Amino acid sequence: MKKVIALALTAVLALSLVACGGSASSAPAASAPASSAAGSVASTTAKGGKVGVCIYKFDDNFMTLYREELDKYLSDMGYDVTVVDGKNDQATQTEQVNTFITQGVDCLVVNLVQASAAPTVIEAAKAADIPVVFINREPTAEDLASYEKACYVGADARQSGTFQGEIIAETENKGDFNGNGTVDYIMIMGDPENVDAQYRTEFSIKALTDAGLKVNKLFEQRGDWDQAKGQELAATALTQYGDKIDVIFCNNDAMALGAAQAITAAGRTVGKDIYLVGVDALEEAKAMVDAGTMTGTVLNDHIGQAHTAGDCVKTFIDGGLNKDDGDQNYTVDYVKVVK
Ligand code: GAL
Repeated sequence: MKKVIALALTAVLALSLVACGGSASSAPAASAPASSAAGSVASTTAKGGKVGVCIYKFDDNFMTLYREELDKYLSDMGYDVTVVDGKNDQATQTEQVNTFITQGVDCLVVNLVQASAAPTVIEAAKAADIPVVFINREPTAEDLASYEKACYVGADARQSGTFQGEIIAETENKGDFNGNGTVDYIMIMGDPENVDAQYRTEFSIKALTDAGLKVNKLFEQRGDWDQAKGQELAATALTQYGDKIDVIFCNNDAMALGAAQAITAAGRTVGKDIYLVGVDALEEAKAMVDAGTMTGTVLNDHIGQAHTAGDCVKTFIDGGLNKDDGDQNYTVDYVKVVK
């Protein structure tokens, strides 16, 4: 029933758009989605179209893997794909979104620089009747609900945090090298505006306390997902707290790779006198887990997420909407990675 109402509303919207089609700012013809090509019923092959992909910044290990997979998946489906670099600047990205809209793309994929910019992006896309698949950085439920042709593809960061904490709780000494009965940790955070950083920080520690362990936070700072910053912060914390540190939690692997360099430089040894855990399961991190130089990581499934996002693009371009129950969230599971 909901869907019927939604479709009826879409039709009314489409009609009203046609009605004011003469105005200078009206969207180009390409914004009309389904109907014209509806005759071809080759269900698994996409019928073509332009997809504009906005990535928050290219210089990010995980998002590089993600965008390459997404580009390939969409191109293989027959879409004309353009991927742009937001250079970690929301103003730049908003401009890129507007350019794609003026060019008449059939669907947008947006990895926001700032989640708080979602309403701006939605407003612009909605005015041009262009669907938006948000990826990686989650808009609020309220933002999503404001546009039926929007959805979010991501993973539940609470799960990745929980897995990080469990990896430590499951070690032989339960994360307590110095034997003081407490897990003394440092936390290197991603960009704190991002729920991935907030949830990983919170839920990694919650998993420890849920396991009945005592915790003590020695240090917590933002490393913005960046390897060099991860190294710098870990080095600072190691100098400041030395042997008091049992565990270094990093919200992602890039920062954990940096922290690993600082750990070596400080003469410490992972698995022997300190633990180190990240998220993403980058190839380098997996190799280190295998070699024992990293305690564990959590697979952030960029392939699953890229394919789910690509499938959402296809659904929208084919004229479909979100799930039958109106749910606009598509979630891919994390996987714990230990030796
Ligand atoms: C996270 C990922 C980080 C970073 C971030 C960007 O999901 O774990 O490495 O890529 O997204 O928003």
